[in-house]
Amino acid sequence: MSGTDNHPNKQASAKAPSKTVLNLGNLPPKMKASELKTAAASYPRTPSRVNPNQPPWPAYRGYHEYSFAHATMGVRLPTILGKAIDDVWKTLNQETEEERIVDLINCIHRLEDLMGDLQGNSKLRPIVDDGAGDIALWNKEIAKFFRGKDFMNAPWLFAEAYKYRRLRECFSLSKYWVDYDVFFRQKCDTFSRSNQAVFELSQRFSQPHDLLASLGPEEKKEKLKLVFHELTQVCLWGNSTDLSLLIDMTEEDIRKLQSTGGDHLAATEKNILGNDLRALADYVTDIKGGRIDFVLDNAGFELYCDLVYADWLIQSGICSEVIFHGKKIPWFVSDVTKFDWNWLLNSCVYGQLFPDASDAEIDSLRTLGNRWKQYEKEGKWKYEAHPFWCTGYTFWDLHSEAPDLFQHLSDSDLVIFKGDLNHRKLTYDCHAPMDTKFPMAIGPLASEAGAPPVCSLRTIKSDVVVGIPSGVGEKLDEEEPGWKISGKYAVVLLSPGRPGEAPQFA
Ligand code: F6P
Ligand code: MG
Repeated sequence: MSGTDNHPNKQASAKAPSKTVLNLGNLPPKMKASELKTAAASYPRTPSRVNPNQPPWPAYRGYHEYSFAHATMGVRLPTILGKAIDDVWKTLNQETEEERIVDLINCIHRLEDLMGDLQGNSKLRPIVDDGAGDIALWNKEIAKFFRGKDFMNAPWLFAEAYKYRRLRECFSLSKYWVDYDVFFRQKCDTFSRSNQAVFELSQRFSQPHDLLASLGPEEKKEKLKLVFHELTQVCLWGNSTDLSLLIDMTEEDIRKLQSTGGDHLAATEKNILGNDLRALADYVTDIKGGRIDFVLDNAGFELYCDLVYADWLIQSGICSEVIFHGKKIPWFVSDVTKFDWNWLLNSCVYGQLFPDASDAEIDSLRTLGNRWKQYEKEGKWKYEAHPFWCTGYTFWDLHSEAPDLFQHLSDSDLVIFKGDLNHRKLTYDCHAPMDTKFPMAIGPLASEAGAPPVCSLRTIKSDVVVGIPSGVGEKLDEEEPGWKISGKYAVVLLSPGRPGEAPQFA
């Protein structure tokens, strides 16, 4: 299908559909949650039989009505796409050059086609070769595992990632709009609406405290652990504000989610259902002058929390180097790209985002921003964006599909994966029993020689849950329906990996 004319949603193209009509005639019959539980008990699949269409435990798929996959594929993704189209119209209305306008209209046509494919539950076609380096990875995976599959019967993780790559294709085939980010406006907006938490942190951390100078070694270690314990939670709960879920938040809602005070953190620690914080603190506070990697999640406020945390890791002497891994393309609405990274650092130094802020508040933010830019110049902080992070592969395939990246990560003292999507990818986004040990759930990234220590800091916003004590999830299932998507609960999980061993590749 091409162009607007023969499009089923011609009139309402810029509006999110109120109801999505799906063509599910050829799908297998619906499975009930209880049947799926029985199936899950008889897994995992032997490693040689695991592939992207056959995860180690049963996959979530869009046609599973009881799962968040169903709501996402049927309602959330079309809504997100509708808003994206609105954003492009906004840009188009501000353009003056005819050639650029016509080029952008073609992007809108492609977006409308994508909306039609999503709502009509089309088969997943190969990505059009736009010259990008990830085409081979995408099209190989489609050809090998998803031929004939559609948006609703492919595993949810792949179908959802595929939609964001198709969104990219709408612009990458243009002449003038290759780097256009339909989510950029929204991403900037949440940061400027986060003033209270932004300044609470900047005023605490802008001046490096020499808090340890007067302490003996034991006291010093204890103090380091205490600060680490709290800051890790700030970094964790920073993940509550992801834009794909919280599209219509009020400022009051944001404030509640972003509260960073000690009492609040202590109260919310009980919501960390799988909690390796203590083991993590013991391990990290023993590192001296090491390297920690962040596989980033969302831009704006979450990134800001990550940077405050990474700054402290440098100031405390734990790290001499922090590597941040962001996305090459706009991804899952709010994920960090290089543009978002630059925007945040420059906004802290030069921005006028907070008209009601005091001089002291603005100064503290500027001090942080200047110090962060200096870290970048000195190479203490590095921003990288490997194409593998924006593929449909889970991290079980990182070792085989991106050996260079595995090798690179194996030199790290700790790789921190932020957020829900990274957690889904770590765990193959499948129906593992909730008490599955985290190292088992992440497969090769824990078991291969050279696997680095891995930590997942994730507020729970989708179905997969692992690493929690038996009985806890089952009780919540009974008492609090929807607990897996509320963002109220979290996990902090650690896998020791096999550091120090040389990675082996076939
Ligand atoms: O669309 C669902 C999802 O992929 C979930 O993983 C989560 O609800 C959200 O989008 C992304 O969350 P995060 O930004 O924490 O990865
Ligand atoms: Mg995200």
